[in-house]
Amino acid sequence: MVKISENFIAQLKAVCDITSVISSYVELKSIGRNKKCLCPFHLEKTPSLVVYEETQSFYCFGCGAGGDVITFIEKIENLNYVDAVKLLASRVGMTVLEDEQGDKLSKKRERILKMNKIAAKFFFNNLRLDKGKAGLEYFYKRQILKKNIIKFGLGYAADSWNDLQNHLESKGFSCEEMFEADLVSRSTKNGNINYYDKFRNRVIFPIIDLRGNVIGFGGRVLDDSKPKYLNSSDTVVFKKSLGLYALYFAKNSRLETLILCEGYMDVIAMHQGGFTNAVATLGTALTAEQTRLMSRHAKDIVIAYDSDKAGRIAMERASKMFMDIGIKPRVLKINGAKDPDEYIKKYGAGRLKVAIDEAQSVTKTKIENMSDKYDLDDPEQKRNYINEYCAFICNMVDPLDREVYIGELCRELGLPREVISNQVNFILNKKRKSYRKNVDREFARVSYRDKINPDSAKYPKAAKAEQGIIKFLFNNPDYADYIYNKIKPDEFITKWHKRVYEIMLDRLKLNDNFDVSAFHSVFDEDEMGTFSRIINENSNFSNTVEVLDDYISVVKDEHEKNTENISDMTLEQIENRRKDKAKKKRW
Ligand code: GTP
Ligand code: MN
Repeated sequence: MVKISENFIAQLKAVCDITSVISSYVELKSIGRNKKCLCPFHLEKTPSLVVYEETQSFYCFGCGAGGDVITFIEKIENLNYVDAVKLLASRVGMTVLEDEQGDKLSKKRERILKMNKIAAKFFFNNLRLDKGKAGLEYFYKRQILKKNIIKFGLGYAADSWNDLQNHLESKGFSCEEMFEADLVSRSTKNGNINYYDKFRNRVIFPIIDLRGNVIGFGGRVLDDSKPKYLNSSDTVVFKKSLGLYALYFAKNSRLETLILCEGYMDVIAMHQGGFTNAVATLGTALTAEQTRLMSRHAKDIVIAYDSDKAGRIAMERASKMFMDIGIKPRVLKINGAKDPDEYIKKYGAGRLKVAIDEAQSVTKTKIENMSDKYDLDDPEQKRNYINEYCAFICNMVDPLDREVYIGELCRELGLPREVISNQVNFILNKKRKSYRKNVDREFARVSYRDKINPDSAKYPKAAKAEQGIIKFLFNNPDYADYIYNKIKPDEFITKWHKRVYEIMLDRLKLNDNFDVSAFHSVFDEDEMGTFSRIINENSNFSNTVEVLDDYISVVKDEHEKNTENISDMTLEQIENRRKDKAKKKRW
């Protein structure tokens, strides 16, 4: 049997957006953030299949079909999992490898790594030669010290069409190999293939992976010509979306923080200024893989993007991506300079250090922006500010965060704490009540539908609550410990949800994230459908710890009802149980 790596699936899914794949089969209509269509898996006149872009999954409310892009292909093309992956891959020019091919590939990888290393040395060495003078001068003009040129292995590609090509040929590499390493480009003229150096008259930044291999290159022009930067395309050793520039050095800084910059020059300026924990993406937008990679090395992340509008938008996006994996990044404000490199040159590393230490969370920054919108001397506007602020607080998952920001607002406006506290609780309670009503209303519907989890007919309310727990965990994997401490898989009432919960906890132990696709190896097609429904359900779902606690107590109550035997309890246990129940009644 062919085993397909999760890595491959992740890459495949990165290029096969579910919306575009499904829309190549059926016509999609927008509904809010999602898309809807007539379900191709059963006969219907009104659309009931919903495509969820955010989770890259779909679910049909008519027939229960659901899953990710691969499930969709399995079902619509009537293929098994492996063949569905192969079909999708072939459409985007990727190849699923069998074992024998795998061997060949690892040999190829070795050759390319060797070639890259030779190329990096060659570029570096150019700086000492006449042909590399322009490069060295450029680095000095940018105030990069010699020791950092050496540390980062910087170099220069001469203004020539075949300087590197000739050198690599003399070392026994063929032009096809160089092409596969993306060190040379090629053109065809009159049926003849012509190879020429990809990097010409550019200073060179070798990209080094965590093991110290040179996996690719970035090259910058010496003047204002375009494109300013040229990066290696993806090769068998280089995936732009997976790596981070300078992480090889930053990981050894033994600091608790990682600083994320936009580009090579910022990173080098940072390291030179003493911030040896700076990294950057490789000329592309931040990816989920990169956030996870960073989170493995540090829990405190400072985003140090450019101060322009593009930088701010990229920062908002990056920040949300870190929040998705349970990290609250801080945001560096660089006033008076366009990027960290310029900042250090203008104001010095000392001031940057202060700015980094003072960097605040995005939440704090957002609130500052919010208050800028209102004139707080005007009572009407003040009222609106309070409303917007309170709504913002109510969307925070963690009650502690909410308490902190209630305090902040009261301090800012000089109001007694109860005023804001009451307002926030009022909104939250309203949300919670309407949610509970939904639970009651919906459990009937779930009960007779659920083929996958027949227990849910017997325990509709508990089943619904279990789904709430599963969904919460899916959205907030960093709460796994919190949830696990409160409820163990054995306390789940319905068999299938218990299994899902166990699988999710197992995956988290491996430090994996939740991506719908990760569940293909454990779920069949019908289960994928049900899972997809659970994690996408209830758009007005209130994502707070209190609601989670409600779910947990519903499940635990049911569990107790099923297992407890009062005669085995001590008096104290009985009393505690009574108190617990009384407390729960109050909600
Ligand atoms: P300097 O101008 O040398 O200070 O570089 P910078 O890092 O300030 O450049 P900028 O903010 O414009 O870009 C940040 C990063 O985006 C760079 O390090 C590159 O990785 C990438 N980038 C910038 N321009 C280009 C381009 O023209 N093509 C590609 N592929 N990437 C680019
Ligand atoms: Mn710059």
